[in-house]
Amino acid sequence: MSTLWHGRFAGGPAEALQALNDSLPFDQRMFSQDIAGSRAHVRMLGHVGLLTAADTAAVLAALDTTETEIAEGAFVFAVNDEDIHTAVERRVTELAGAAGARLHTGRSRNDQVATDLRLWTKREMVDLAGVVADLQAVLAQQAETAGPAYLPGYTHLQQAQPVLLAHHLLAHGWALARDVDRLLAAGQSADVSPLGAGALAGSSLPLDPDMVAQELGFAARFENSLDAVSDRDFVVEALFALSLLGVHLSRIGEEMILWASSEFGFVSLDDAFSTGSSMLPQKKNPDIAELARGKAGRLIGHLTGLLTTLKGLPLTYNKDLQEDKEPLFDACDTVRLTMLALNGMLATLTFNTERMAESADSPYAAAVDLAEYLVAQGMPFREAHAVVGGHVQNALAGHGSLKDLVTADPCLGAEAAELLAPGVAVTRRTTPGGAGPAAVAVQAERFAQKLAEQQTRLTQ
Ligand code: ARG
Repeated sequence: MSTLWHGRFAGGPAEALQALNDSLPFDQRMFSQDIAGSRAHVRMLGHVGLLTAADTAAVLAALDTTETEIAEGAFVFAVNDEDIHTAVERRVTELAGAAGARLHTGRSRNDQVATDLRLWTKREMVDLAGVVADLQAVLAQQAETAGPAYLPGYTHLQQAQPVLLAHHLLAHGWALARDVDRLLAAGQSADVSPLGAGALAGSSLPLDPDMVAQELGFAARFENSLDAVSDRDFVVEALFALSLLGVHLSRIGEEMILWASSEFGFVSLDDAFSTGSSMLPQKKNPDIAELARGKAGRLIGHLTGLLTTLKGLPLTYNKDLQEDKEPLFDACDTVRLTMLALNGMLATLTFNTERMAESADSPYAAAVDLAEYLVAQGMPFREAHAVVGGHVQNALAGHGSLKDLVTADPCLGAEAAELLAPGVAVTRRTTPGGAGPAAVAVQAERFAQKLAEQQTRLTQ
């Protein structure tokens, strides 16, 4: 066999066309999905009487052999194997002869490639969600180890209020929990079988798309054959889920970069997870964190790239759709690798909790506690804010320490000044979901529960 369409063509393809057109270099990673799809298709053809039992058995055996050959690296690809579908069908026909030539009955590469990619995406989304869960577990573990440690919480990158380190770490954990939900949702979008849509319109043959959908473990079959072969929403959704996950990893990376700087000094990275400088002997660089930040750009690029590819496409299949796989594969690989490295970095770094506390213990960080003290005495908050603001202004102008000014104020006094003592302010965040020890203990419980729920969904 030369090309799949040789019957209609007088000559073979030009070299440049072949080089541009071939997708085998990247779509061969879907070989087991392609073979699974063919198995289901062939069984269905046998079931509806389009293939004899003997032919069905011969094709199934040839598919088994082909799968083993590819898995073991013994498969010899031919020049004209433009994609994995062509390669598998060519080999099956070599092995099963006339029966193999019936494999493609009622099927097109258009419904075939969509089937393969959906099967691949379904599995990969669950798999990656598991890698996210591992990262969440590291954050949860570090949050537990952090115990009562606290650091300044920031808004505008200005010190705002002290927060428990555990609270800060769990904040990233909750963002990742939403990523797990999104990855699983993208997997669900992929969970619809397009097989049986043919090139675009279905078939005159008595195919049974419900049967193949069930055989392949899809939750449903397509409703509209035109939509089935052109829908790549699931790829876009996967790329979005991966992009947002990448953005979350980037934010973690950015913070670790800041925290590892000598200006912050909040963390020390383990040697195995940091790099040196070729010129400056004293340097220890947070490359993993920087790459986590850098890779997000590439992920967003993949998402916007595919959206752009799709936006002008008329129904139904167009070769442009072949551009769906490389970004998806690369995004999955990139996110996986980034998470593994970040996981190691976060699991092994040391938090310099003394340095954190020192930064958080600026008396100004407790200013709102003073205002709330006045509120508890019945003063309207706006007024209390202004009173404390006045003391802060005086302290900053050198008219005495904030503590002395507060002690001297009859509305505040020595009891209120106690709130400025190191480590006190953080304990006063008592509301649900807040940054203080009691609330964080409850939150950590709930986070552990969330992880357990996720785990159940992942192993379903
Ligand atoms: N390699 C192709 C892709 O990835 C398979 C589908 C080809 N279909 C076609 N009508 N040429 O999209």
